[in-house]
Amino acid sequence: MQITYKGKVRDVYDLGDKLFITSSDRISAFDVVFDELVTGKGILLNSISNLWFNYFKEIPNHILETVLSNFPKEFQKEEFRDRSILVKKCKRVDYECVVRGYISGSAFKEYKEHGTIAKKKISEAYKESEKLPEPIFTPAVKNDTGHDENISEEELKSRVGEELFLKLKNYSLEIYTKAHDKLKNQGLILCDTKFEFGFDNEKLILIDELLTPDSSRYWDMDSYQTGISPPSLDKQILRNYLETLDWNKNPPAPKLPLDIIEKVLHKYKELQERIKKCL
Ligand SMILES: Nc1ncnc2c1ncn2[C@@H]1O[C@H](COP(=O)(O)OP(=O)(O)OP(=O)(O)O)[C@@H](O)[C@H]1O
Ligand SMILES: [Mg+2]
Repeated sequence: MQITYKGKVRDVYDLGDKLFITSSDRISAFDVVFDELVTGKGILLNSISNLWFNYFKEIPNHILETVLSNFPKEFQKEEFRDRSILVKKCKRVDYECVVRGYISGSAFKEYKEHGTIAKKKISEAYKESEKLPEPIFTPAVKNDTGHDENISEEELKSRVGEELFLKLKNYSLEIYTKAHDKLKNQGLILCDTKFEFGFDNEKLILIDELLTPDSSRYWDMDSYQTGISPPSLDKQILRNYLETLDWNKNPPAPKLPLDIIEKVLHKYKELQERIKKCL
C-alpha cells in the first residue's frame, strides 16, 4: 500500500472506488508542519469528525467503515486503529462550503479592506470576531495548489447552477446552525467551519472531515471577546508559544518542547470530551 495523497495531517490511500483516510499525529501551524508528533492527536481528530457524522446521520455522508476489523485486510494494522475511515470515493464538488457565524479571519480582513463580506457590501459596523445577525454562506474555490479563492454566492450559483447551489448552501447553513446551537451547552462557540461535498453517483453527500478543529474555528465562551482575533481553541497554546520565538513562520519549523506538545494534546482531548458531551 502506498499513500496516494499526503495532506498536512491526513494520509489518503486511493482504493479505486473507495478511499482510506487516516489521521496522523502531525501538527501544523501557519501552514507549516512540525517534525514532532502529538501522539494521540489523530485519534482525537478522527473521533471528533465521526461523532459529528454520526450526529448528522440524516444527511448522507461518505463513511463506509470506522472500525479496524471491518477495514480491507491490508489496513487492519494497529497503526490505523481509531484514527482511520474507509469512505466512498466521490466526484468532489470543487468548492469549499464555508459558513460563518462570526466575522473573523479572512472575512474580517475583506470587510476591513473593502467593506464587503463574500463580495457583498455591508452597511453595519462590525468589530473583529463579532457575531453576525445570521450565519452566512461564503463559498471558496478549492485550489489544490496555493490558497483557496473566496467567491460570491452569485458566482457559485452561476458556476454550478441554482439547484446544486441551493443544496450546498442549505445543507451547510443547517449543519452549522445545529452544531453551533448544540455546542453552547459546553460553553463552546463554533465561529466558522468548512464543509466539502461530493457526488456518489447522482447523489450529493458530505465528504472529507466534519466540524473538526482543522476545518473549523472553535472558541471558548469564557474567553470570547470582540475587537481581537482569538485563535481557535486547539491552536492557542501553539500560537502563544510560537509568538515567543523569533520565527518567521516559514519552513523549517522550530522544535517543539515536550511540555507544549503535552498541553496541545490535552487541549484536543478536552475539546473532544466537550463535543462528546454536547451530542
Ligand atoms: N469521499 C471523498 N471522495 C473524494 N475526495 C475526498 C473524499 N473525502 C475527502 N476527499 C479529499 O481528500 C483530500 C484529503 O486531504 P487533506 O484534507 O488531508 O489535505 P488537504 O485538504 O490537501 O490539506 P489540509 O491538510 O490543509 O486539509 C482532500 O482533497 C479532500 O477534498
Ligand atoms: Mg483538507
